[in-house]
Amino acid sequence: MEIGIVGAGTMGAGIAQVACKSNCEILLYDTNPESLQLAKENTEKNLRRFFKRDKKTEEEFESLFSKITYTENLEDFKNAEFCIEAIVENLEVKQSVFKTLEKIVSKNTVLASNTSSLSIASIASSLEHPERCLGVHFFNPAILMPLVEIIPAVQTSKSVFENVFKMISNWGKITVEAKDTPGFIVNRVARPFYGEALRILEEGIADVPTIDWSMTKLGKFRMGPFQLMDFIGNDVNYTVTETVFKSFYYDSRYKPSFTQKRLSEAGYLGKKSGKGFYDYEKSENNPKPNKDEVLGFHILNRILVMLINEAADALYLNIATAKDIDLAMTKGVNYPKGLLAWANERGLNWCEQRMDELFNTYREERYRCSPIIRKLNEEGKQFIIQH
Ligand code: NAI
Repeated sequence: MEIGIVGAGTMGAGIAQVACKSNCEILLYDTNPESLQLAKENTEKNLRRFFKRDKKTEEEFESLFSKITYTENLEDFKNAEFCIEAIVENLEVKQSVFKTLEKIVSKNTVLASNTSSLSIASIASSLEHPERCLGVHFFNPAILMPLVEIIPAVQTSKSVFENVFKMISNWGKITVEAKDTPGFIVNRVARPFYGEALRILEEGIADVPTIDWSMTKLGKFRMGPFQLMDFIGNDVNYTVTETVFKSFYYDSRYKPSFTQKRLSEAGYLGKKSGKGFYDYEKSENNPKPNKDEVLGFHILNRILVMLINEAADALYLNIATAKDIDLAMTKGVNYPKGLLAWANERGLNWCEQRMDELFNTYREERYRCSPIIRKLNEEGKQFIIQH
């Protein structure tokens, strides 16, 4: 089987490294020859690293590495049975590429997009046969992150969805089904991790290292919110939040923060620019956390209950199943526990009370408790998470 990947940047090259481990021939296309060259170098480096770890031979490496063909000619995709697009996040550009692609490939070729924030329905609408289009959302780095969100658009045929779901699972990935709504599962449910941490900072409840310390040491998250925002890049993270906020018709739950916007405007983008919430060049400038556990648990509980509430609401609105929501957060962003399982552990009464406390304090829609938490609590039930 031939697989075509459009865009050889961070994600396209990463997806090629994943797909070449299946028994497929991969075509990697980009308009920029430098991207292709870089993709080739990075692929060689990554595959060699994994081969060394798994004690495989040079022949085995060569046979895998040679499965990827790098091309500047989209016409080479004419025999591809499955294509994944991973180019710049711009609807018009993506639609134009899909239109061109449809003229080259056969009528049965499935066309997928790796978009993080655009609607799959709008991308599919550029096609004469939109039923062959769907979203496959990998996480960065694709070779390491086990999760892939599979997103059928309203136009997608059932068989296209089922075949792709099965195929990507066979590539060794954990696949979850997500509704075609802004942020799909992970980029929606994770918003409070950043947003509530920023709000706590802006209210002056605690400083950056104290909030990160509370989440990592007390909450066992792998990275604190500010460490993660600096790692992702404040420009990128701010834009995702802003896109989600606008897409949800300005729901205050997803409101972006001026603090992060100013950092981004100042060029304090995080690790990549040497400075963000933290100073990476003069680390001695960074304040030490206040390790007061009472304050720490207050911070953790506030962010945690907002995350739980977001996960519960995603379930309530049928964005995904309870099992897939928990899998998405543990396998897509390494949360220490699924949020719905965490809710069960804390108790739904605890969740409802914490949300109501926040709502009563601030009187903002942002802190409304999800109806599903109230309903289950009233009935004395828990979330049912079937594995
Ligand atoms: P990138 O900037 O690293 O790579 C994009 C590549 O597309 C570049 O090599 C560029 O030359 C190429 N390109 C642009 N226009 C093109 C065209 N018309 N035809 C062919 N190639 C073209 O971007 P990245 O980060 O790989 O993102 C790609 C897509 O994946 C975006 O839709 C993004 O939202 C999504 N995504 C990104 C993630 C990330 O963490 N970077 C995670 C998951 C999804």
